[in-house]
Amino acid sequence: MSLFITLEGGEGCGKSTQAKLLSARLSRSGYDTALLYEPGVTPLGLELRRCLKRARHGGITAEAELMLFAAARSELTATMLLPALQRGAVVVCDRYADSTIAYQGYGRGLPPTIITTVNQLVTRGLRPDVTVLLDMEPIAALQRKGPSRDRFEHESIDFHQRVRDGYLEMARSDPERWLVFDATRPASIIATAIWSHISSLLGRASPTASHSA
Ligand code: TYD
Repeated sequence: MSLFITLEGGEGCGKSTQAKLLSARLSRSGYDTALLYEPGVTPLGLELRRCLKRARHGGITAEAELMLFAAARSELTATMLLPALQRGAVVVCDRYADSTIAYQGYGRGLPPTIITTVNQLVTRGLRPDVTVLLDMEPIAALQRKGPSRDRFEHESIDFHQRVRDGYLEMARSDPERWLVFDATRPASIIATAIWSHISSLLGRASPTASHSA
């Protein structure tokens, strides 16, 4: 059976660690597993990631930023994500369309209707089955990340606070899909809690369920 799991959250919340732990646990349990991340993985995605994260990349508008993330997502969805789901894999994706709602929507203030339309186009209507939100207060999270910072990590605390509030609002409005974890807890405890939700979902799911976006 296929399952599409995304991990979301602000900078330094430990998403990548949890994505790796979860996909390793899925593989050990015998599931065909794909670990993906955004932006990146595809050749175009890696190029765009470099442009988007470069620390001194002054002249990038919010609209251009939206389109670059969307271009990376389109490639990832068409060439890796949908094929993995269609063969029945469990996909763990470190960030997906909700990052754009949080960062370019709540963070940069671009209109939600435009973001929804763009996301709809590039995801081909695909939505995660489960989204894990690792939530923590942004000042502490940025301190945890240390001094080497990219363009997003240089944004104001207000920006990061809006991103966090956006995530919490999305999670509140769709509690069936979103699981919220306190990211200040030890990584091993969070990993156990995530696994307990995902393994029970996999246990309940019909083995014939599949994605066809
Ligand atoms: P990354 O190093 O992957 O950050 P993290 O480890 O926190 O996931 O960098 C991705 C950056 O891009 C991160 O600051 C969030 C931002 N981003 C957006 O602004 N919009 C998006 O749609 C996505 C996918 C990421």
